[in-house]
Amino acid sequence: MPNLDGKVAIVTGAGRGIGREHALALARAGAKVVVNDLGAALSGEGHDDTPAQQVVQEIETLGGAAVANGENVADFAGAGRMVQQAVDHFGRIDILVNKAGILRDRMLVNMSEAEWDAVINVHLKGHFAPTRHAAAHWRELSKAGEDVRGRVINTSSPSGVFGNIGQSNYGAAKAGIAAFTVIAAQELHRYGVTVNCLAPNARTRMTEETFDMKDPDPTEWDPLDPANMSPVIVALCADEAQDITGQVFHVWGSAVNALRGWSADQLFDTEGRWDADQLLGELLARFPDGASPPGMVAGMQSAGGKSLGTT
Ligand SMILES: NC(=O)c1ccc[n+]([C@@H]2O[C@H](COP(=O)([O-])OP(=O)(O)OC[C@H]3O[C@@H](n4cnc5c(N)ncnc54)[C@H](O)[C@@H]3O)[C@@H](O)[C@H]2O)c1
Repeated sequence: MPNLDGKVAIVTGAGRGIGREHALALARAGAKVVVNDLGAALSGEGHDDTPAQQVVQEIETLGGAAVANGENVADFAGAGRMVQQAVDHFGRIDILVNKAGILRDRMLVNMSEAEWDAVINVHLKGHFAPTRHAAAHWRELSKAGEDVRGRVINTSSPSGVFGNIGQSNYGAAKAGIAAFTVIAAQELHRYGVTVNCLAPNARTRMTEETFDMKDPDPTEWDPLDPANMSPVIVALCADEAQDITGQVFHVWGSAVNALRGWSADQLFDTEGRWDADQLLGELLARFPDGASPPGMVAGMQSAGGKSLGTT
């Protein structure tokens, strides 16, 4: 396992599910951890400090060091206090894993403004705010001549990169997080910071309430164990991974697939401006059976061989 001794990590949404496993894995690799979690319901309502405190206790039982943080990641000032807490408590920050998330699924025609706003806010602003504060901290260190090896690891979703019915709010936020990853990677490279992203798949309260999932067989390898996502995090946090940045990894069990996002495909080109009639003719000639996105199940199957929708 890469040795992360002396490094300090913030993991948001680390009181439960995948984030909890990341916090434990980073602690096992030697990092000190700020365990952030609002302790919200799946829909984002409520506040409970217990989940974060329990993970801190688990890390301490392992012999590691951790501190709880109950800030809302989408609160810009609160995210600043969280980054400051890491610096005040542990003296530095090396790793930020943005994991906190909620769901308010609804078909587009019925989606309320509140359902849209809440999901976009927690995911998209909840990635921007902590990253913005950590990035400012790293830029200061870099300008002061320190050899910074900062790490930001974001969380997209198969819904965001392949599209999933009923999740226009969540998928739009998760697609935005993939784009945010690419741009943040381009901007922060000069300060020694890598920015990558996971599109995970795991059995947590989030997927158990959305998909009809079988219970794991305790005698067999469980591809949906949330702990399967964490080796990717620990590997990307190693000093040796300094040149791997701006990547979005789809992870299913043992399958880790580096995705390629929007890339050039069919090119329609002409002399000067297109005539709409001519272009329509070209479109119909090139897409004789129409053109539409293949959907999340097909995307996941091509990336990892499996899909939550088919288990
Ligand atoms: N489980 C999957 O298969 C899957 C698939 C794709 C993406 N994801 C993403 O992975 C991340 C973790 O999901 P999970 O399945 O572990 O869900 P989870 O519900 O088990 O954990 C999410 C945690 O985030 C916390 N949280 C919510 N809003 C917060 C806020 N504003 N500030 C701080 N903490 C907050 C919750 O209290 C909760 O403990 C989410 O971003 C989710 O969208 C999960």
